[in-house]
Amino acid sequence: MSTLFKNSNVVLTGANGILGTAVARQLAMQGARLALLVREPEKCTPLLDELKNLGATRNILIKCDLTQAHCTDAAIAEAAHQLGSIDVLIAAAGAAQGGLFWEIDDAAWQRNLEVKLFGTIRTLRAVSPFMIAQRKGRIVVIVGNSAAQPEPRMLPGAAANAALLAIIRGLAKELGPHGVVINAVNPGPVHSPRWQNLMQATATREGISTAEAEQKFISRSSLRRLATAEEVAQHVLYLASPLTAHITGSSLTVDGGSSSY
Ligand SMILES: NC(=O)c1ccc[n+]([C@@H]2O[C@H](COP(=O)([O-])OP(=O)(O)OC[C@H]3O[C@@H](n4cnc5c(N)ncnc54)[C@H](OP(=O)(O)O)[C@@H]3O)[C@@H](O)[C@H]2O)c1
Repeated sequence: MSTLFKNSNVVLTGANGILGTAVARQLAMQGARLALLVREPEKCTPLLDELKNLGATRNILIKCDLTQAHCTDAAIAEAAHQLGSIDVLIAAAGAAQGGLFWEIDDAAWQRNLEVKLFGTIRTLRAVSPFMIAQRKGRIVVIVGNSAAQPEPRMLPGAAANAALLAIIRGLAKELGPHGVVINAVNPGPVHSPRWQNLMQATATREGISTAEAEQKFISRSSLRRLATAEEVAQHVLYLASPLTAHITGSSLTVDGGSSSY
Protein backbone atom coordinates (compact mmCIF):
# COMPACT_ATOMS: atom_id res chain seq x y z
CA MET A 1 0.00 0.00 0.00
CA SER A 2 1.26 3.48 -0.86
CA THR A 3 0.83 5.90 2.01
CA LEU A 4 0.37 9.25 0.29
CA PHE A 5 -2.97 9.74 2.07
CA LYS A 6 -2.11 7.92 5.30
CA ASN A 7 -3.89 9.69 8.18
CA SER A 8 -5.77 11.94 5.72
CA ASN A 9 -9.46 12.40 6.37
CA VAL A 10 -11.22 12.70 3.03
CA VAL A 11 -14.81 13.65 2.23
CA LEU A 12 -16.02 12.34 -1.12
CA THR A 13 -19.31 13.15 -2.86
CA GLY A 14 -20.63 11.04 -5.74
CA ALA A 15 -18.84 8.03 -4.26
CA ASN A 16 -20.99 5.46 -6.02
CA GLY A 17 -20.66 7.07 -9.45
CA ILE A 18 -18.29 5.90 -12.16
CA LEU A 19 -15.52 8.32 -11.24
CA GLY A 20 -16.30 8.55 -7.51
CA THR A 21 -15.96 4.78 -7.08
CA ALA A 22 -12.59 4.77 -8.83
CA VAL A 23 -11.43 7.65 -6.61
CA ALA A 24 -12.68 5.89 -3.46
CA ARG A 25 -10.82 2.68 -4.33
CA GLN A 26 -7.54 4.48 -4.96
CA LEU A 27 -7.83 6.60 -1.82
CA ALA A 28 -8.50 3.47 0.22
CA MET A 29 -5.40 1.85 -1.26
CA GLN A 30 -3.39 4.94 -0.30
CA GLY A 31 -4.39 4.82 3.35
CA ALA A 32 -7.06 7.53 3.50
CA ARG A 33 -9.99 7.47 5.88
CA LEU A 34 -13.13 8.30 3.92
CA ALA A 35 -16.50 9.88 4.63
CA LEU A 36 -18.66 9.00 1.64
CA LEU A 37 -21.55 11.45 1.20
CA VAL A 38 -24.23 9.57 -0.71
CA ARG A 39 -27.95 9.84 -1.37
CA GLU A 40 -28.73 6.23 -0.53
CA PRO A 41 -26.25 4.76 1.98
CA GLU A 42 -27.83 1.30 1.71
CA LYS A 43 -26.80 1.21 -1.98
CA CYS A 44 -23.18 1.80 -0.95
CA THR A 45 -22.56 -0.96 1.56
CA PRO A 46 -20.97 -3.21 -1.13
CA LEU A 47 -18.52 -0.37 -1.90
CA LEU A 48 -17.78 0.05 1.79
CA ASP A 49 -17.09 -3.71 2.03
CA GLU A 50 -14.82 -3.51 -1.02
CA LEU A 51 -12.86 -0.64 0.53
CA LYS A 52 -12.51 -2.67 3.71
CA ASN A 53 -11.00 -5.50 1.68
CA LEU A 54 -8.51 -3.00 0.27
CA GLY A 55 -7.34 -2.31 3.80
CA ALA A 56 -9.45 0.76 4.63
CA THR A 57 -11.50 -0.24 7.63
CA ARG A 58 -12.59 3.04 9.20
CA ASN A 59 -14.66 4.58 6.41
CA ILE A 60 -18.12 5.99 7.00
CA LEU A 61 -21.26 6.55 4.93
CA ILE A 62 -23.25 9.73 5.45
CA LYS A 63 -26.62 10.30 3.83
CA CYS A 64 -26.67 13.49 1.80
CA ASP A 65 -28.89 14.88 -0.92
CA LEU A 66 -26.90 17.69 -2.50
CA THR A 67 -30.05 19.35 -3.82
CA GLN A 68 -30.84 20.34 -0.20
CA ALA A 69 -28.64 23.00 1.42
CA HIS A 70 -29.54 22.02 5.00
CA CYS A 71 -28.82 18.36 4.23
CA THR A 72 -25.44 19.22 2.67
CA ASP A 73 -24.50 21.45 5.63
CA ALA A 74 -25.48 18.72 8.10
CA ALA A 75 -23.57 16.01 6.20
CA ILE A 76 -20.34 18.05 6.07
CA ALA A 77 -20.68 18.89 9.79
CA GLU A 78 -21.26 15.19 10.55
CA ALA A 79 -18.19 14.23 8.50
CA ALA A 80 -16.03 16.78 10.34
CA HIS A 81 -17.37 15.52 13.67
CA GLN A 82 -16.85 11.82 12.93
CA LEU A 83 -13.48 12.18 11.18
CA GLY A 84 -12.14 14.85 13.52
CA SER A 85 -11.01 17.01 10.57
CA ILE A 86 -11.57 17.33 6.83
CA ASP A 87 -8.15 17.34 5.21
CA VAL A 88 -9.41 16.76 1.67
CA LEU A 89 -12.71 17.23 -0.14
CA ILE A 90 -13.25 15.59 -3.49
CA ALA A 91 -16.47 16.60 -5.25
CA ALA A 92 -17.46 13.96 -7.78
CA ALA A 93 -21.26 14.21 -7.78
CA GLY A 94 -23.48 15.23 -10.62
CA ALA A 95 -24.13 14.46 -14.20
CA ALA A 96 -26.25 16.44 -16.64
CA GLN A 97 -28.44 15.17 -19.45
CA GLY A 98 -28.18 16.41 -22.96
CA GLY A 99 -30.50 17.14 -25.85
CA LEU A 100 -31.24 19.60 -28.61
CA PHE A 101 -30.76 23.10 -27.20
CA TRP A 102 -34.18 24.37 -28.32
CA GLU A 103 -35.91 21.34 -26.80
CA ILE A 104 -34.45 21.77 -23.27
CA ASP A 105 -37.03 23.78 -21.34
CA ASP A 106 -36.51 25.84 -18.18
CA ALA A 107 -37.41 22.98 -15.86
CA ALA A 108 -34.89 20.69 -17.55
CA TRP A 109 -32.17 23.35 -17.34
CA GLN A 110 -32.89 23.79 -13.64
CA ARG A 111 -32.83 20.01 -13.04
CA ASN A 112 -29.58 19.72 -14.94
CA LEU A 113 -27.86 22.47 -12.98
CA GLU A 114 -29.27 21.46 -9.60
CA VAL A 115 -26.78 18.73 -8.65
CA LYS A 116 -23.62 19.49 -10.57
CA LEU A 117 -23.54 23.28 -10.23
CA PHE A 118 -25.66 24.09 -7.17
CA GLY A 119 -24.82 20.82 -5.39
CA THR A 120 -21.11 21.57 -5.75
CA ILE A 121 -21.65 25.18 -4.64
CA ARG A 122 -23.48 23.89 -1.53
CA THR A 123 -20.66 21.43 -0.82
CA LEU A 124 -17.93 24.08 -1.19
CA ARG A 125 -19.89 26.57 0.92
CA ALA A 126 -20.36 24.02 3.69
CA VAL A 127 -16.76 22.79 3.80
CA SER A 128 -14.96 26.15 3.53
CA PRO A 129 -15.50 27.31 7.15
CA PHE A 130 -14.18 23.99 8.48
CA MET A 131 -11.03 24.15 6.38
CA ILE A 132 -10.51 27.85 7.17
CA ALA A 133 -10.76 27.08 10.90
CA GLN A 134 -8.19 24.26 10.49
CA ARG A 135 -5.98 26.62 8.43
CA LYS A 136 -5.46 23.82 5.93
CA GLY A 137 -7.37 21.82 3.37
CA ARG A 138 -7.26 20.55 -0.16
CA ILE A 139 -10.25 20.54 -2.50
CA VAL A 140 -10.56 18.89 -5.91
CA VAL A 141 -13.72 19.23 -7.99
CA ILE A 142 -14.26 16.89 -10.93
CA VAL A 143 -15.55 19.34 -13.53
CA GLY A 144 -15.15 18.31 -17.20
CA ASN A 145 -13.48 19.37 -20.41
CA SER A 146 -16.82 20.45 -21.89
CA ALA A 147 -16.31 23.82 -20.20
CA ALA A 148 -13.69 24.49 -22.89
CA GLN A 149 -14.98 22.06 -25.54
CA PRO A 150 -18.79 22.30 -25.40
CA GLU A 151 -20.63 19.61 -27.35
CA PRO A 152 -23.80 21.13 -28.88
CA ARG A 153 -26.04 18.40 -27.43
CA MET A 154 -24.54 18.58 -23.92
CA LEU A 155 -24.85 22.29 -23.14
CA PRO A 156 -26.32 22.14 -19.60
CA GLY A 157 -23.30 20.14 -18.43
CA ALA A 158 -20.93 22.47 -20.28
CA ALA A 159 -22.56 25.53 -18.71
CA ALA A 160 -22.31 24.00 -15.22
CA ASN A 161 -18.66 23.19 -15.83
CA ALA A 162 -17.79 26.69 -17.08
CA ALA A 163 -19.48 28.24 -14.04
CA LEU A 164 -17.64 25.88 -11.69
CA LEU A 165 -14.26 26.75 -13.18
CA ALA A 166 -14.96 30.44 -12.57
CA ILE A 167 -16.00 29.71 -8.98
CA ILE A 168 -12.90 27.58 -8.38
CA ARG A 169 -10.56 30.27 -9.73
CA GLY A 170 -12.21 32.97 -7.62
CA LEU A 171 -12.59 30.91 -4.48
CA ALA A 172 -8.92 29.94 -4.60
CA LYS A 173 -8.07 33.60 -3.94
CA GLU A 174 -10.40 33.71 -0.96
CA LEU A 175 -9.23 30.41 0.54
CA GLY A 176 -5.52 30.66 -0.24
CA PRO A 177 -4.55 33.01 2.63
CA HIS A 178 -6.12 30.45 5.00
CA GLY A 179 -3.91 27.64 3.74
CA VAL A 180 -6.68 26.00 1.69
CA VAL A 181 -6.19 25.05 -1.97
CA ILE A 182 -8.85 24.26 -4.56
CA ASN A 183 -8.40 22.88 -8.05
CA ALA A 184 -10.38 21.17 -10.80
CA VAL A 185 -9.84 18.04 -12.85
CA ASN A 186 -11.41 18.27 -16.30
CA PRO A 187 -11.89 14.82 -17.78
CA GLY A 188 -13.14 14.07 -21.24
CA PRO A 189 -15.63 11.20 -21.47
CA VAL A 190 -14.52 7.92 -19.91
CA HIS A 191 -15.45 4.34 -20.78
CA SER A 192 -18.81 3.61 -19.13
CA PRO A 193 -22.27 2.24 -19.91
CA ARG A 194 -23.41 5.86 -20.23
CA TRP A 195 -20.81 6.48 -22.92
CA GLN A 196 -22.02 3.38 -24.79
CA ASN A 197 -25.62 4.65 -24.66
CA LEU A 198 -24.52 8.04 -25.93
CA MET A 199 -22.65 6.49 -28.84
CA GLN A 200 -25.66 4.29 -29.69
CA ALA A 201 -27.93 7.35 -29.72
CA THR A 202 -25.43 9.28 -31.87
CA ALA A 203 -25.16 6.33 -34.27
CA THR A 204 -28.94 6.10 -34.65
CA ARG A 205 -29.24 9.85 -35.19
CA GLU A 206 -26.49 9.96 -37.80
CA GLY A 207 -27.34 6.64 -39.50
CA ILE A 208 -23.93 5.11 -38.81
CA SER A 209 -22.75 2.18 -36.71
CA THR A 210 -21.92 2.57 -33.01
CA ALA A 211 -18.30 1.71 -33.77
CA GLU A 212 -18.18 4.47 -36.41
CA ALA A 213 -19.73 6.98 -34.02
CA GLU A 214 -17.13 6.10 -31.41
CA GLN A 215 -14.29 6.28 -33.93
CA LYS A 216 -15.45 9.71 -35.09
CA PHE A 217 -15.31 11.00 -31.54
CA ILE A 218 -12.06 9.32 -30.59
CA SER A 219 -10.26 10.55 -33.71
CA ARG A 220 -10.52 14.08 -32.27
CA SER A 221 -8.24 13.15 -29.37
CA SER A 222 -4.47 13.11 -29.71
CA LEU A 223 -4.24 9.80 -27.88
CA ARG A 224 -7.04 8.26 -30.02
CA ARG A 225 -8.74 6.59 -27.05
CA LEU A 226 -10.94 7.40 -24.09
CA ALA A 227 -9.55 7.46 -20.57
CA THR A 228 -10.54 4.84 -18.03
CA ALA A 229 -12.16 5.94 -14.77
CA GLU A 230 -9.02 4.69 -12.99
CA GLU A 231 -6.80 7.00 -15.05
CA VAL A 232 -8.97 10.00 -14.21
CA ALA A 233 -8.94 8.98 -10.54
CA GLN A 234 -5.13 8.93 -10.53
CA HIS A 235 -5.08 12.57 -11.65
CA VAL A 236 -7.65 13.49 -9.03
CA LEU A 237 -5.48 11.93 -6.32
CA TYR A 238 -2.43 13.72 -7.64
CA LEU A 239 -4.13 17.13 -7.32
CA ALA A 240 -5.55 16.19 -3.92
CA SER A 241 -2.14 15.13 -2.61
CA PRO A 242 0.67 17.10 -0.97
CA LEU A 243 2.67 16.56 -4.19
CA THR A 244 0.88 19.61 -5.63
CA ALA A 245 1.11 21.82 -2.54
CA HIS A 246 1.68 25.08 -4.46
CA ILE A 247 -1.09 24.74 -7.05
CA THR A 248 -4.44 26.46 -6.50
CA GLY A 249 -7.20 27.93 -8.67
CA SER A 250 -5.98 25.70 -11.43
CA SER A 251 -7.38 22.90 -13.55
CA LEU A 252 -5.89 19.75 -14.95
CA THR A 253 -7.39 18.62 -18.24
CA VAL A 254 -7.41 14.83 -18.59
CA ASP A 255 -8.87 14.26 -22.05
CA GLY A 256 -6.13 12.66 -24.11
CA GLY A 257 -5.48 15.92 -25.93
CA SER A 258 -9.01 16.53 -27.24
CA SER A 259 -8.89 20.16 -26.20
CA SER A 260 -6.23 20.93 -28.75
CA TYR A 261 -8.70 20.32 -31.61
N1 LIG B 1 -17.95 10.02 -16.66
C1 LIG B 1 -17.48 10.89 -17.53
O1 LIG B 1 -17.22 10.56 -18.69
C2 LIG B 1 -17.25 12.33 -17.11
C3 LIG B 1 -16.53 13.16 -17.97
C4 LIG B 1 -16.32 14.50 -17.59
C5 LIG B 1 -16.82 14.96 -16.40
N2 LIG B 1 -17.53 14.13 -15.57
C6 LIG B 1 -18.08 14.67 -14.33
O2 LIG B 1 -17.58 13.94 -13.23
C7 LIG B 1 -18.56 13.85 -12.21
C8 LIG B 1 -18.81 12.38 -11.90
O3 LIG B 1 -19.22 11.74 -13.10
P1 LIG B 1 -19.63 10.21 -13.13
O4 LIG B 1 -19.50 9.76 -14.53
O5 LIG B 1 -18.95 9.48 -12.05
O6 LIG B 1 -21.19 10.34 -12.82
P2 LIG B 1 -22.20 9.22 -12.37
O7 LIG B 1 -21.64 7.85 -12.56
O8 LIG B 1 -23.51 9.53 -13.01
O9 LIG B 1 -22.32 9.49 -10.82
C9 LIG B 1 -22.89 10.66 -10.36
C10 LIG B 1 -22.86 10.65 -8.86
O10 LIG B 1 -23.55 11.80 -8.37
C11 LIG B 1 -24.44 11.39 -7.35
N3 LIG B 1 -25.62 12.25 -7.24
C12 LIG B 1 -26.54 12.51 -8.18
N4 LIG B 1 -27.50 13.29 -7.66
C13 LIG B 1 -27.16 13.52 -6.36
C14 LIG B 1 -27.76 14.23 -5.29
N5 LIG B 1 -28.91 14.91 -5.45
N6 LIG B 1 -27.15 14.23 -4.10
C15 LIG B 1 -25.99 13.55 -3.89
N7 LIG B 1 -25.37 12.86 -4.86
C16 LIG B 1 -25.96 12.84 -6.09
C17 LIG B 1 -24.88 10.01 -7.78
O11 LIG B 1 -25.45 9.33 -6.70
P3 LIG B 1 -26.68 8.32 -6.93
O12 LIG B 1 -26.06 7.02 -7.35
O13 LIG B 1 -27.36 8.28 -5.62
O14 LIG B 1 -27.54 8.89 -8.01
C18 LIG B 1 -23.55 9.42 -8.25
O15 LIG B 1 -22.80 8.96 -7.17
C19 LIG B 1 -19.82 14.54 -12.76
O16 LIG B 1 -19.86 15.84 -12.28
C20 LIG B 1 -19.60 14.55 -14.26
O17 LIG B 1 -20.23 15.63 -14.89
C21 LIG B 1 -17.75 12.81 -15.90
